[in-house]
Amino acid sequence: MNVKKIGVLTSGGDAPGMNATIHAVVKSAIAKNIEVVGIYRGYSGLIKGDVRSLTAKDVTDIIQKGGTILYSARCPEMKTSEGVKKAKEVCEANDIDGLVVIGGDGSFCGAYILSDAGIPCIGLPGTIDNDISCTDYTIGYDTALNTAVQMIDRLCDTTASHDRCSVVEVMGRHAGYIALNAGISCSASYIIIPEHPCNKQDLFDRIRHAMKRGKNHFIVMVAEGIGNVTELAKEIEQVTGVESRATILGHVQRGGSPTVRDRVAGARLGYHAVNLLSRGIGNRVVGLNKDVVVDFDIKDALNMTKKFPEDLYHMAGELSR
Ligand code: ADP
Ligand code: F6P
Repeated sequence: MNVKKIGVLTSGGDAPGMNATIHAVVKSAIAKNIEVVGIYRGYSGLIKGDVRSLTAKDVTDIIQKGGTILYSARCPEMKTSEGVKKAKEVCEANDIDGLVVIGGDGSFCGAYILSDAGIPCIGLPGTIDNDISCTDYTIGYDTALNTAVQMIDRLCDTTASHDRCSVVEVMGRHAGYIALNAGISCSASYIIIPEHPCNKQDLFDRIRHAMKRGKNHFIVMVAEGIGNVTELAKEIEQVTGVESRATILGHVQRGGSPTVRDRVAGARLGYHAVNLLSRGIGNRVVGLNKDVVVDFDIKDALNMTKKFPEDLYHMAGELSR
């Protein structure tokens, strides 16, 4: 297959490093004499035909920028056969020979269906959650984690000044990677993640025990979706007597200039995606396993399960005593 033109889109929640990935896709394609078009606002732009040419100039100085120059969106229509039909027609009308989809598992489902419909797609893991099974690493995770830790360091200052307990909620969708690693990084007194049932009695006992040995301020790290952190802060205050506050870090975790790790990951994965598409290969997800670039059939990738680092969780429990 003579690949002359490819498209690139970002879908689902944005993640720092998406621009670095777009940069790599465009530069790698140009090096192979392949034209690139950007599709704006994920699958919704694809269905509407919001397709614009991307040149080297368009990606100059984007590598260091957070967010995504292509914008992102969630597009329920892509889950319908009518939506997929329109997406395919837009690809054909624009002579798009292959598509790079930067997003999470949901976005890969769309890429799988489109590949099946005859448009070769490559999925690249772009999400702060690090929750994609076929890869050890997702673009955006390192930046989000560092942002969360910087914010929690600030929170620690005021928490300590007032002898308080801060209950901090971080993002992660259904996964506890950000909570666990941010918790370890700021020496949290307790970490609550979806992978382990929450034992409130153990939490209260830990705080009381630490108070007995002179500790007077605490960080309790909570992954989103576990429960109401304001209520938990109230409970901690009632049971332990330590004045408590809840903080939800929220979308600040998704912004900011990507770290070196996210820029390099974006470059490596974007480069590999273009290599695959240029050889007429589609229906693959590209990832990093033990720091080596790998790729899998999309359906296989979606059916994989990720082993949560239980040893790290256990270690965090020991260190927080
Ligand atoms: P993420 O890609 O981060 O997992 P979502 O789950 O929100 O985020 O999915 C992003 C987009 O991918 C959806 O808005 C939709 O356009 C598309 N998508 C998700 N699931 C499917 C599916 N089963 N079939 C086709 N497209 C899907
Ligand atoms: O997947 C990234 C993520 O930020 C999750 O951590 C979070 O659950 C979700 O997206 C938030 O989505 P929205 O931007 O739609 O509020």
